[in-house]
Amino acid sequence: MISYLYNIFLFIVTIYASQFPLPISKCPEEDSLRNCLDQYQFKGPVYFRDNFSAYNKDIEFEFSWLVIYFPIAFIHPLDEFDVQSAIQCAAELNIPTVARSGGHSYEGYSLGGKDCSLVISLVNFNNITIDTISQTAVIGTGISLQPLYYKVQEHMFAFPGGTCPNVGVGGLMMGGGMGFLSHRFGMSSDNILDAQIVLANGTVVYSAKKYPELLWAIRGAGNAGYGIITALTLRIYPIPKIVTRLSIEYDFDQTPLLFSVLDQLGPNFHQNLTTYILINSDSGPSTNIDCIYLGSADELRHHVDVQEFIKLSKPKNVTYIENDLYHIEVTGELLAHGYFKSLTFFFDQKGIPYEGIKYLMKFMKSFKCVVHSETLLIAGGKINEIRRNETAFVHRGFKYHIAMFAHFPDAHSEETEECFQELENFSQHVLQNYASYECYQNLVDRQLDNWQCRYYVENFERLVEIKQKYDPYNLFRWNQSIPTTTNISCNVLD
Ligand SMILES: Cc1cc2nc3c(=O)[nH]c(=O)nc-3n(C[C@H](O)[C@H](O)[C@H](O)COP(=O)(O)OP(=O)(O)OC[C@H]3O[C@@H](n4cnc5c(N)ncnc54)[C@H](O)[C@@H]3O)c2cc1C
Ligand SMILES: *[C@@H]1O[C@H](CO)[C@@H](O)[C@H](O)[C@H]1NC(C)=O
Ligand SMILES: *[C@@H]1O[C@H](CO)[C@@H](O)[C@H](O)[C@H]1NC(C)=O
Ligand SMILES: *[C@@H]1O[C@H](CO)[C@@H](O)[C@H](O)[C@H]1NC(C)=O
Ligand SMILES: *[C@@H]1O[C@H](CO)[C@@H](O)[C@H](O)[C@H]1NC(C)=O
Ligand SMILES: *[C@@H]1O[C@H](CO)[C@@H](O)[C@H](O)[C@H]1NC(C)=O
Ligand SMILES: *[C@@H]1O[C@H](CO)[C@@H](O)[C@H](O)[C@H]1NC(C)=O
Ligand SMILES: *[C@@H]1O[C@H](CO)[C@@H](O)[C@H](O)[C@H]1NC(C)=O
Ligand SMILES: *[C@@H]1O[C@H](CO)[C@@H](O)[C@H](O)[C@H]1NC(C)=O
Ligand SMILES: *[C@@H]1O[C@H](CO)[C@@H](O)[C@H](O)[C@H]1NC(C)=O
Repeated sequence: MISYLYNIFLFIVTIYASQFPLPISKCPEEDSLRNCLDQYQFKGPVYFRDNFSAYNKDIEFEFSWLVIYFPIAFIHPLDEFDVQSAIQCAAELNIPTVARSGGHSYEGYSLGGKDCSLVISLVNFNNITIDTISQTAVIGTGISLQPLYYKVQEHMFAFPGGTCPNVGVGGLMMGGGMGFLSHRFGMSSDNILDAQIVLANGTVVYSAKKYPELLWAIRGAGNAGYGIITALTLRIYPIPKIVTRLSIEYDFDQTPLLFSVLDQLGPNFHQNLTTYILINSDSGPSTNIDCIYLGSADELRHHVDVQEFIKLSKPKNVTYIENDLYHIEVTGELLAHGYFKSLTFFFDQKGIPYEGIKYLMKFMKSFKCVVHSETLLIAGGKINEIRRNETAFVHRGFKYHIAMFAHFPDAHSEETEECFQELENFSQHVLQNYASYECYQNLVDRQLDNWQCRYYVENFERLVEIKQKYDPYNLFRWNQSIPTTTNISCNVLD
């Protein structure tokens, strides 16, 4: 009796302490999965739903709490053989399976994208080995960008990742990866040389190079259901000891002028300069330019195009800060967990039309929740020097990409619903009237129509063929994973 009461008490306390109403019931295959993992001598920790505290900790690890799913279990393999055991069990029991690296999926896909999937968390795959002679790094896919940035900096090297240092390398690099060094070094996925991957049939592939089509798929769609990637070999680059952050502040009303000048001069900027235009709704709104330059401030002050741009775009304030790359890249506080949704737009060489910029500005002023917009200048940079079919990352030849991050107060209130609808309307309008057809697959959006063609365009069919070959029973599946068959043809578009 006492123990019964105690259990109820514990249960209530646990639920109360959790951000989420945790499910009480087990998933149908739970007992079979437990037996199977024992049978295959799975070594790492396994958290089923009855382990409230550990299970809850893995749920709360998710960066965006807008969309949450409850897996059958979180398992933390210790090595590739553990991953192999887990996959063999999942395949035998036909349990949809996903990998989890940094938990920064915007649609909860590393929680399975639906309830009762098996989540293979890669937290224990955290090795980083730098080889300065061959200019490569071998990394476990469970790390976030920050330790990688730190380690390469120690050797005066760099790797092009994303802007936010706590995003996981697993999701980011295999679906593209754009950030402050993109102009010079391209997408993260362009710099994946090799991968270790555990396939749906349980085979551990130590070098994906031996399967060129698989490596091709991983570089842009490796986070879309080809297997559990446990390690990546990356190309890294020597960089100067001192680099420069250039920050330029504007009056919000100068935004159209800024873009018109950038349209003209931006494509000529030196590749060592990566340029972001940041517009935040919660500070005015305000418009700023933020750049990283691989070189000294003094050199940058002698770049004619950049100085001409600064002069003509009429900023309020211009600052140059010099430091080593790590301290330039990793600044400020890390973004806390919250309720987020992202939008993605590419713009071709004509740039963003004037009406489009006015529409964006109007939205920034009127949106009832908080929204940040990050526009990356792509034209003139390394991203565009690579052919569209060279890797699964297809989006080449654009002038800008806009990533927008909306921040809601909670998951379900009326205010959130309203903001969500406004955001959806905004996205539709921009896609229909101003932006390209294509969208960036790392900013997953389950509301997006024709995502197959928007994310992968003419590479989609080949991706389906490769999926069919390496995961014929569709073990790695969720709503926006690559399917094993399709009737959709993306070649006729545009
Ligand atoms: C705050 C924030 C800032 C961001 N900034 C940028 C940015 O600057 N540049 C940019 O390009 N993107 C950015 N993104 C988008 C980011 O690239 C994607 O959300 C990415 O998928 C996150 O990777 P993750 O490993 O953290 O996520 P997870 O949620 O762990 O994984 C995302 C997807 O990848 C799959 N996956 C993860 N690891 C593996 C693996 N080892 N093997 C196979 N599949 C795997 C998962 O199954 C899931 O479908 C940002 C996202 C957030 C939330
Ligand atoms: C739950 O997980 C924790 C953390 O690993 C572990 O210490 C504990 O024994 C587990 N509890 C149960 C009931 O399995
Ligand atoms: C990490 O590196 C060590 C030493 O090279 C190796 O023994 C271990 O297997 C690696 N771990 C993983 C998960 O790759
Ligand atoms: C698993 O699939 C790969 C790729 O198709 C193949 O090379 C390998 O032989 C398969 N392994 C087994 C055990 O069937
Ligand atoms: C550009 O960056 C590279 C490092 O990738 C550096 O070696 C070179 O000196 C830089 N060039 C200029 C002009 O700053
Ligand atoms: C310009 O920006 C710098 C750095 O943020 C700040 O210290 C300075 O006060 C600003 N100057 C003006 C005129 O706003
Ligand atoms: C990419 O397309 C070009 C022609 O457009 C073709 O020659 C080349 O073989 C293709 N590359 C791959 C990897 O399919
Ligand atoms: C969104 O668009 C629909 C149809 O165009 C419209 O009815 C609705 O009022 C709009 N909602 C918001 C919140 O803007
Ligand atoms: C997944 O797709 C199915 C079929 O299109 C749809 O019914 C379901 O609502 C989708 N799930 C989510 C979470 O979007
Ligand atoms: C493709 O079309 C056929 C016939 O119209 C249909 O039976 C099948 O379900 C479709 N497949 C997919 C993946 O949509």
